[in-house]
Amino acid sequence: MPADKKNIDKVKKLTNELLDADYKYYVLAKPDIDDYTYDMKMKELLSIEAEFPDLKSPNSPTQRVGSDLSNDFPSVIHTVPMLSLANSYDENDLNEFDKKINNLLKGEKYRYVCELKFDGIAVSLVYKNGLFVEGATRGDGIRGDNITANLKTIRAIPLQLEKQKDIEVRGEVFFMLKEFYRINDEQEAEGKPRYANPRNTAAGSLKLKDSREVSSRKLNMFCYFLRYINDAEQKKQISHSQNLEVLKALKFPINNFTKVVYNIEEVKDFCRKIELERDNLPYEIDGVVVKLDSIAQQEKVGSIAKSPRWAIAYKFKAKQAVTKLKSITLQVGRIGTITPVAELEPVFLAGSTISRATLHNSDEIERKDIREGDYVKIEKGGDVIPKVVEVVKQKRSKNSKPFKMPNKCPVCKHPLQRPEGEANYYCTNSLCAAQVQGRMEHFVARTAMDIEGLGFQIIEKFIGLGYLKDVTDIYRLAEKEDELKSLEGFGNKSIENILSSVERSKKRPFEKVLFAIGIRHVGERTARILAKYFKNIESIKNASQDEIQDIYEIGPRIAESVYNFFKVKSNMQMIDKLRKAGLQFEMEKSTTVLNKLEGLTFVVTGTLLKYKREEVEELIESLGGKASSSVSKKTSYVLAGAEAGSKLKKAESLGVKVIDEEEFEKMIK
Ligand code: IVH
Repeated sequence: MPADKKNIDKVKKLTNELLDADYKYYVLAKPDIDDYTYDMKMKELLSIEAEFPDLKSPNSPTQRVGSDLSNDFPSVIHTVPMLSLANSYDENDLNEFDKKINNLLKGEKYRYVCELKFDGIAVSLVYKNGLFVEGATRGDGIRGDNITANLKTIRAIPLQLEKQKDIEVRGEVFFMLKEFYRINDEQEAEGKPRYANPRNTAAGSLKLKDSREVSSRKLNMFCYFLRYINDAEQKKQISHSQNLEVLKALKFPINNFTKVVYNIEEVKDFCRKIELERDNLPYEIDGVVVKLDSIAQQEKVGSIAKSPRWAIAYKFKAKQAVTKLKSITLQVGRIGTITPVAELEPVFLAGSTISRATLHNSDEIERKDIREGDYVKIEKGGDVIPKVVEVVKQKRSKNSKPFKMPNKCPVCKHPLQRPEGEANYYCTNSLCAAQVQGRMEHFVARTAMDIEGLGFQIIEKFIGLGYLKDVTDIYRLAEKEDELKSLEGFGNKSIENILSSVERSKKRPFEKVLFAIGIRHVGERTARILAKYFKNIESIKNASQDEIQDIYEIGPRIAESVYNFFKVKSNMQMIDKLRKAGLQFEMEKSTTVLNKLEGLTFVVTGTLLKYKREEVEELIESLGGKASSSVSKKTSYVLAGAEAGSKLKKAESLGVKVIDEEEFEKMIK
């Protein structure tokens, strides 16, 4: 039945009322209707839309309640990369920043905008013709996940603008603390574990498959960036502060603390004031962001590989608390590293309850003279694991004794060893249950092979039942499908989920596989560098230790570890089995989006005007080139700054082309 005018009008009216209510509640924090009235209007709109599906617009407020369609999150390539910010930790860093701006602007006048640094998740919202059409996570800055359906549930985000604009808006999605506590209370009431902190919970919520569930958690947002999709309009931008005003007028949520200031002293005042205010805020922040206001000046100052030079984050000091250290236990890592852990009297700190903290190693315990039964000061900075800063000696009990490191592995009882020159003790039994378990957990982690469903307890169970002896067995689980399905405590569905996730993991890119196989000292970042440089596993295996060490950012410790890894027969057997299972052991052809410097090797030497050495090397890598530390015949260019010495001479003697900063900039333009 086609909709009559009465219903068309009703839908319009309800839509306006609901969007207005969202705006007043979530953006202005001044609600003017109660929850019940809101719910009733929403119900009515839902029922009219159900009857006349034609009346349902893609930006109806009913999108806020989510749907039962399962989300998948295809990748989105950001038209303009989403950069991050350089960090500063004290007023000196701010002075340095200001000095650099001053130099780069050669005496021009300038203003800053000071904003809060919200501790949430950066997202991008794209509007076409005034309609919210696509929302994505930051991802790695270049490629993010399309999470449009989930973002539509956030009531602070306008679904439809009053003007038909084509714009991209960026900002931070977060939880108000009150909402975070409410969710945690609910978790507890349902017998589920409490979430650790609002930030990670917000990240997790944005990635939920069921947008109705996202809708039930009231996420919030502050916006801090505007881009016009139309180039001509974008070129007319005057200042960041003006952009924020435009956003405000378009009803985007803009934070009230935002302030324009005229010199670095005022910036520092702002930082001090906010640091005092921090604990009174109804949401978490971890610092202040300082941005050059004029867009023309932002452009003049420019950006380096991952962050703009025209902005800086001023990070607050970590928050501290005092609590009792009940005991010291030992954790056995995936390569046998023994890490002493402080078991603490639970204490609330910066949004979460802490009951454990790392003690790093026995030297650290000795140096800080940490003893069981002591009261200790603990600290948490950003999302790092809490650590013990110091002992409150006045509160120490008279009969406390210094901590003594046990000489056996707490799990397999194998004697512990401490290699010369190392701070750590190791369990050298590679079959130790804790190590096997650790390697598996590392392998399946989200940052590695991303195998969902194989959690800590299931791995433990599968090891116990003999299904998993090493990581290669994960790819043989499918052969046992029927047997697994008959196991007590496992439904068909959960086994199918695990198996499909295992299958999906075969598509994980080479760099993730390289990280997953657990080469000592090779973290995510190093794995990425190695993968980009060598392109496939064969080349890494055949590389000499020197060749590995020559790569920018790869030190001798990593080089040795990588080199040795491939000399161990069992490691090569593992790689062989994984390759046969279908995992990726070479780079995809077109993974670098920006590859202007593909195939070129640079050596940077001397003092550059605009970049620090690390900055320019990072820039080269990000454009697909290689940055090496020594000049050879294979070097494509030596980028030489002031006072370049022996490397410049070597380049000249080998006939390697030498370029200066200006030529380099032309090259990457
Ligand atoms: S501006 C090019 N403004 O901090 C500038 N970022 O460390 C990019 N953040 O990825 C960001 N509050 O997730 C900006 N007022 C604010 C911010 C903010 C929090 C986050 C954002 C960004 C990260 C950079």
